Amino acid sequence: RGKRAFIAGIADDNGYGWAIAKSLAAAGAEILVGTWVPVRTKYLETSLRRGKFDESRVLPDGSLMEITKVYPLDAVFDCPEDVPEDEVAESVKQDFGTIDILVHSLANGPEVSKPILETSRNGYLAAISASSYSFVSLLKHFIPIMNPGGSTISLTYIASEKIIPGYGGGMSSAKAALESDTKVLAFEAGRKHNVRVNTISAGPLRSRAAKAIGFIDMMIDYSLENAPLQKELTADEVGNAAAFLASPLASAITELSFTLIMVLMRWELES
Ligand code: NAI
Repeated sequence: RGKRAFIAGIADDNGYGWAIAKSLAAAGAEILVGTWVPVRTKYLETSLRRGKFDESRVLPDGSLMEITKVYPLDAVFDCPEDVPEDEVAESVKQDFGTIDILVHSLANGPEVSKPILETSRNGYLAAISASSYSFVSLLKHFIPIMNPGGSTISLTYIASEKIIPGYGGGMSSAKAALESDTKVLAFEAGRKHNVRVNTISAGPLRSRAAKAIGFIDMMIDYSLENAPLQKELTADEVGNAAAFLASPLASAITELSFTLIMVLMRWELES
């Protein structure tokens, strides 16, 4: 049987989640998706049905990526009509029994455009809640339905380690927490369930979320100038790294922060 993957955080065909889904589908995995309720779930389902994403569904062999099912998912769950992680995991269990791969490709920081010195307590905590605790919670609820040997992946950003002015609102703190949690969760999930936990530190991509931060073009230009590989990172490259980490080829890789196009930050000196 092929592997079954649940990818949390696909809202359209622009972000890393979509690219990861495609690489996993190309490698033969069955794709289940969790999308933020309520508007985004409907938008994704309708767009898929109407063929809006057909061009970007094309896999290397010419076939189209199939998404078996889209689940509403709220990683923060603060309104009664939102669907929390435990309910989603329960629905997946009822529909499919188990999964092999869990991908967390979501983040949110309501005050991301504010410097951390001007960030409110609520803004800071909201960033951590949606971007870091959401992974702990997702793993906690999905691990009981993950097959041994399973693999989980999140997406992080270098602002956790180096100063990236503009990545504010506590989002740098949230990514630092996510990376630290990757280690502790890798230990706990590995010992208890034989499940691997890794995170990919991705370079800048013009996704919906990144455009909302407001300085994505500057991030891309900066990477082009300073990264070891002077090329614009594509979402597919992150997708392929994720497919490798999820596959049996990476069966001994856990607790790793995998960097794609590491940017050596001279930014703090220049800005
Ligand atoms: P995206 O906009 O495609 O994905 C973000 C997703 O988070 C969206 O689907 C959004 O609906 C979802 N989301 C936000 N709050 C949520 C909540 N409370 N519950 C459920 N879903 C929620 O953007 P992108 O950039 O592909 O982001 C995916 C991951 O990649 C994030 O963790 C991001 O921090 C990370 N990343 C992005 C980089 C970039 O330059 N775009 C660079 C490095 C990491």
